[in-house]
Amino acid sequence: MAAIEKDFRRSVVYQIYVKSFCDSDGDGVGDLPGITGKLDYLARLGVDYLWLTPFYPSPQRDGGYDISDYRAVDPVYGTMDDFDELVAQAHKREIGIMLDMVLCHTSCDHEWFQRALAGDERYRAYYILRDGRGSSGPGDPGQPPTNWDCAFGGSAWKWEPRLGKWYLHLHDVSQPDLDWTNPEVREACADVVRFWKERGVDGFRFDVVNLISKPEVFEDDLSGQGRSLFADGPHVHEYLRELVARAGIDGMMTVGEMASTTLENCVRYTRPEDHELSMSFSFHHLKVDYAAGKKWELAEPDIGQLRSIFRTWQEGMQAGGGWNALFWDNHDQPRAVTRFGGRAGVGERGGSWERVGKMLAVCDFLMKGTPYVYQGDELGMVNPGYDSIEQFRDVESRNYYQIMLEMGKGPAEALHVVNERSRDNGRAPMQWSSAPAAGFTSGEPWIGIPASARLVNAEAEVGVEGSMFEFYRSLVKLRHASDVIATGEVRFLDAGEEAPKVIAYERTLGDERLVVACSFADAPCRLADLGVEKYEVVLGNYDDAPAPGALRPYEAVVWRS
Ligand code: GLC
Repeated sequence: MAAIEKDFRRSVVYQIYVKSFCDSDGDGVGDLPGITGKLDYLARLGVDYLWLTPFYPSPQRDGGYDISDYRAVDPVYGTMDDFDELVAQAHKREIGIMLDMVLCHTSCDHEWFQRALAGDERYRAYYILRDGRGSSGPGDPGQPPTNWDCAFGGSAWKWEPRLGKWYLHLHDVSQPDLDWTNPEVREACADVVRFWKERGVDGFRFDVVNLISKPEVFEDDLSGQGRSLFADGPHVHEYLRELVARAGIDGMMTVGEMASTTLENCVRYTRPEDHELSMSFSFHHLKVDYAAGKKWELAEPDIGQLRSIFRTWQEGMQAGGGWNALFWDNHDQPRAVTRFGGRAGVGERGGSWERVGKMLAVCDFLMKGTPYVYQGDELGMVNPGYDSIEQFRDVESRNYYQIMLEMGKGPAEALHVVNERSRDNGRAPMQWSSAPAAGFTSGEPWIGIPASARLVNAEAEVGVEGSMFEFYRSLVKLRHASDVIATGEVRFLDAGEEAPKVIAYERTLGDERLVVACSFADAPCRLADLGVEKYEVVLGNYDDAPAPGALRPYEAVVWRS
């Protein structure tokens, strides 16, 4: 079956966290046949591409982002035949498949690292190995080469006696970073991409790909730059162009995950004339509730800051000819409905969680870029709210719980922070029905089922007028049908002093003008003149028409000239 090639400006991508989507064989873990069985559901939603998170063999220290074999399917997720069948069945429904390429690091169980440990010089050169500071000679570790922190807490360096060196791991200690200055590593990575392209996939998502080029000189981080010290490194654009050319994927649907990146770099990653990627994920808008920029310190979301970040990225990428991936949720983020909805709880149909979920969807879908729906967004899934640390599976959450205790927080407070910030918020099983285990598995789920599944689930929403699912479905249709949304200009609007928590923007193409206003406030507010008096309302998240010049709590309205 020929590859699916759709205009990415008109497309909608759906992200599947394979482990938590649908379990077909009762072992409590989602799998590839489980996804195949839900393709009709996804076709009904109308999405164009599925991005599958890693399903390759892995010791699962980092949810599968620690890969021990890039060219196989982990038996827990199925077989290569299951994979081929999924691709064929998706293609029959005109849905493309995008795979996750994790090429910044391997698992330490990967053959390359194992060979390095065994002393093979060729493979030692695949990794970033350094002597310790103050070491008196071979065998004496000394101190870590730099003071860099890894993403999940603690030093980014690990002393390995079998290597006689420290190795760099920007993520978990089981994820040694590959040395992209080594041309053989770059060719080996291109070969992995080629392998899957030849197997018939339609696109790729590149994991933390702006971290592949490390700084020329390894020095202590003295200015508190943290991750931005190794983001968008000196050769990153050159390496990406080379990867794309060698793997033969120029023009395919591609997206890069860019950690602590800049607008200037994202323009370069994504403008077509540079032949790097179709679009990029950036994360600045998801840090507006970090106190002093720190993920594990809570603050209320700063909507003024959110608006200014969106404005910078929307107008800036447009001016530079780049392209944004639009999203609120993924497998690394808490659920946006909880986060931006005043902790919107789930009480009843039509409750604030639904209102908030629809408002967020409007805000995202009508901006300039390609929207990504994360599994369960279309149902309005919220944070699970686990009641003990044992219920969490994620390495980062468990590490930081300990770090918070060591820093003097009490267990209840530390648990509260983990419940707000954990990546497991996005990794709880997909809620298919109100049956036990939410219809996700007939066995014991690998991670707990949220209590909200009783009300928030596909069975209760598919085909039900006014449900979140049907709302998303209409947004996908709108996205496909509307030129002004796909390709029009974007410009942010000032909603006025009395609307500090409103994000408003316009999209224009020729004579057509759409105006979008989304309130993140839990109280009504008055709007400045947005020039919409004579316009028709094309979309909203309340049953009745909006009042002129005002928005109700969490109201979203779209007007058309
Ligand atoms: C990306 C993934 C995340 C993973 C990390 C290391 O940020 O989305 O889940 O832990 O890369 O691979």
